[in-house]
Formats: sequence, structure tokens, C-alpha cells
Amino acid sequence: VREIPFVLIGVGNLGRRFCEIARDKAPLLRDEFELALRLVAVGDSQGGACDAETGIDLDSVVAIKRGGGTVGDLPVIGRKPWPALDLVARADAEILLEASPVNLALGAQPGLACIRTALERGMHVVTPNKGPLVLAYDELIQLAARRGVELRYDGTVAGGLPAVNLGQRDLRGGVISRLEAVPNLSTGFVMDLVGRGASWNEAIALAARDGTLEGDGTWDLDGWDAAAKLVILSNAVLGIRTHMSDVRFEGIRSLDAATLREAHQAGKRYRLLARAIRTSSGCYDLSVSPVCLTVEHPLGRLSSKQMGVVYYTDIYGTIVALVEEQTPIPSAATMLRDLLDIYLGRQFGGDKKSRPYTTGSRVRWSQSPL
Ligand SMILES: NC(=O)c1ccc[n+]([C@@H]2O[C@H](COP(=O)([O-])OP(=O)(O)OC[C@H]3O[C@@H](n4cnc5c(N)ncnc54)[C@H](OP(=O)(O)O)[C@@H]3O)[C@@H](O)[C@H]2O)c1
Repeated sequence: VREIPFVLIGVGNLGRRFCEIARDKAPLLRDEFELALRLVAVGDSQGGACDAETGIDLDSVVAIKRGGGTVGDLPVIGRKPWPALDLVARADAEILLEASPVNLALGAQPGLACIRTALERGMHVVTPNKGPLVLAYDELIQLAARRGVELRYDGTVAGGLPAVNLGQRDLRGGVISRLEAVPNLSTGFVMDLVGRGASWNEAIALAARDGTLEGDGTWDLDGWDAAAKLVILSNAVLGIRTHMSDVRFEGIRSLDAATLREAHQAGKRYRLLARAIRTSSGCYDLSVSPVCLTVEHPLGRLSSKQMGVVYYTDIYGTIVALVEEQTPIPSAATMLRDLLDIYLGRQFGGDKKSRPYTTGSRVRWSQSPL
């Protein structure tokens, strides 16, 4: 069994659930893939813990975070405070899982610095954190390439939906004439509640209680989140160097409740739609705005807990993918998906003999793939 020592920064909705997934899936990972994940360093906003020798017990991390504590309180190995960057800089690990807040207004810190440091040190990185990708896409991709390691970020767009992976891998050789996405859960959730008769304040309070809104809601409701996701899709899938300033975006707060109720009664749905439309010059027009979708639209039947993406292509047809997320588990699970992709490559099924193992900057094959 191959051990994978990893660092986890951010043990909130996603990070804690990743620990639960890693714990629960340990037997499957061992039996199916001969892999064992070993947590060697972990950090939250208050502290950190490190144990490269025996690894940190996932159950203890989950218990302490469920109780509202800090991993800095883990007996013997914990310390308060323990800056995330220091943990990443010292950890004897192969891969960083970075799940701290977006913090775009703070230069995407500490996520960006942690990811830079990990890549510099020759560690792979998996992150669902949009901030570093939005601010430094080119730099990070090039740094990873220079160091011969992988940077994966499938969880940055539309939670558990493999929107990035699908666009990057399965549409190569095609031209995407149009991309439409509902990459944000909370805006649809709020608009559906208002459509059914709730006031804006009630709907926003419910979304906050439900955990679907980030922070004070500005990030989601005013369109920043959807725009950030479109920036990532544009860079990663459309291959266009894109920044936030390239996207025209508006949120949902300018809509009046009567409009949403009318649409709801007519069986239509308002969704905050992110769009990239290819122009005759081969560029893309990028926008985010609330749109009333009829049931004929591929995303017109999304429930309040679904997100989706549509790729309109020249040779691959129109591909529609949806995800239903009742909890943050699918979003947290993207970190496992990306990690397995790094370590297992494109080997599927039970052909364990020809599986590639990736170690830092080297890829070695357990048996020739040819
Ligand atoms: N929630 C979702 O459904 C979802 C889906 C896709 C992507 N994402 C992205 O994934 C990331 C994590 O989301 P989340 O919902 O898990 O966020 P969260 O619940 O707010 O958790 C954030 C974690 O980061 C820690 N943290 C905050 N500041 C830190 C610092 N300076 N140093 C070290 N750790 C720090 C927090 O520490 P404390 O525990 O001490 O507060 C917490 O453990 C975000 O970038 C988010 O945009 C989230």
C-alpha cells in the first residue's frame, strides 16, 4: 500500500468533511487502489498540528472541529497559533489540500501563499478555493509546470460538478461556441424561496442558516462568486487569460419579488447565469446576470439544490451536466477526485498492474503502460 502524506489547510465545511470522507473511504482506497492517505499537518484560523511520524488521527480532527474548537488544541502535536504558511513550508508531505476562505479582497490569503509555497516545494496541490486561481491563474499553472507537479481545482466551479474536468479533458479538439453555467447554489435557492412567497430578508436568512451563503452574502448575491467561477472556466477551459475585470456581472438583488413570483407561477425559474459567448473574432463575451429560464432551456429545470453547466460545441454536441448538492459533501469530495486523478492518472477499472504512481515531480509506472 502506497502512503500519501498530505497537508490540509482549512477544516471548515469542506475540510472537515474531507477528513470524514478520507476516514470512511480508507478501506476502499486501500483495497481498490492500494493507497492510504496520511494527514501529516493540519491548520485552521486559530492553530495547527503536525505529526509526520505517525500521522494525525482524522477522527480527532473531526471531533475537535465539530465541537467548534481548533486543531491547535490537539494534544501534544497542536499549537496555537500556527500560521498556515509555516505548516505548509515545513510539512513533510507530497500534497497540499487547501480549503481556506476565498478572501479575494485580502489577496486570496492565506490560500495563495500556501499554494505558491507548496508548488515551490514540489508538492502537488488540490484546492476548491477560487481566490488563488482567480488572482494568479497563469502564475500558479506555470509554477506547477516548472516544478513538475499537479495543481487541480475542480471544486472551484459549481461544487461537486466536474465542470472544469469535463471542459478541460473531454472537449479537446472541439470549439466551444457557448458556455452557460449556473455555478452558484445560493442565488437559485434564494430566488426560488422569494418566488414561492418569502420576503428577500427571510430568504437570505434561510440561505445563511442553511449554510449555502458565504459570509455576509455579498459574495454570492451580488454575483462575485459566479463571476469568479466564470473567470476560472474561461482560463481553464476556454484558454483565454481572464480576470474579474473582463466579466460584466450583476447580482440578483435588483430583481423585484413580484417578478420572481410571476415567473414561478408560470413554471419558469430565475437563475444567475454565467455565460461565455464566442464572437466572430474568436474571443468570448463574458457575463453574469439573472435570467428567466423556460423549461426548454437545458438548465431550466434545476431544483434549488442543483447547479449545472452547458457546453455548446462544434463537434461534441451540446453537453449538459448537473449536480444536486443537499450537503457540502460533493464539494468536499472533489478534493478526493482530484487527488485520485493525480495519483492514478487515467487508469480506470480494476487494472491495478498498469497503474501510474505519481511521486512529487516524477511519475513512475508500476508496470509499463505500453
Ligand atoms: N462550502 C461549499 O459548499 C464550497 C463549495 C465549493 C468550494 N468552496 C470553497 O472551499 C473553501 C472552503 O470552504 P468552506 O465552506 O469549507 O469554508 P469555511 O467553512 O469557512 O472553512 C474555512 C476554513 O478555513 C480556516 N481558515 C480561515 N482563515 C484561515 C487562516 N488564516 N489560516 C488557516 N485556516 C484558516 C477556517 O478556520 P476555523 O475553522 O478556525 O474558522 C476554516 O477551518 C472556500 O474557498 C470556498 O469558497 C466551498
